Amino acid sequence: MDNIELRGKSFKLYMPNEEILACIDGVAEKINRDYAGKQVMLLCVLNGAILFTAELMKRLNVECELASIKLTSYSGTQRMNEVHAATSLVGDVKGKNVIICEDIVDSGNSMEFLLGYLKDLGAADIKICTMLFKSQIFKKAFKVDYIGKSIPNVFILGFGLDYEEFGRNYKDIYIINEQ
Ligand code: IMP
Ligand code: MG
Repeated sequence: MDNIELRGKSFKLYMPNEEILACIDGVAEKINRDYAGKQVMLLCVLNGAILFTAELMKRLNVECELASIKLTSYSGTQRMNEVHAATSLVGDVKGKNVIICEDIVDSGNSMEFLLGYLKDLGAADIKICTMLFKSQIFKKAFKVDYIGKSIPNVFILGFGLDYEEFGRNYKDIYIINEQ
């Protein structure tokens, strides 16, 4: 499918599934190398990172646990500044090597909030792993450790990413057609 209509907006193909999976292969390879002989806890940021986390996990050969948390920051296609935890963390991160699995890092507000949250819970080490990274927007001081692909400041959906909570189910990623 090259074009989709969703909730009155039109989108066109941006990253086919094969390209997404190749990005995840690359990230998994790095994590396998960096964490060889260690244990990790993957923290899936719900709901967007569900598909990314699942594909990433399948490719890891280090001992890994899985935890999840839901954050909220976006409303439709508009970025909101206020980030909070919409669920408490499912899993225990105390003393663990945590790798946050995120669908996309944009302003970095969500990750800034989550880093503070995990430090307060006593995580031993925290790394950020994101499928996509809007590098032009990100101005934070902290590092994004593992990046599948950097993209410009565009609005996309599919492969976990939503528009008004819809569109997460597409296996490819689509970009919004500007009117
Ligand atoms: P940040 O806090 O500004 O870095 O935003 C991160 C969150 O906003 C991500 O976890 C996504 O859920 C959401 N987000 C950012 N950009 C997009 C997009 O282009 N499409 C859909 N969701 C997005
Ligand atoms: Mg997200």
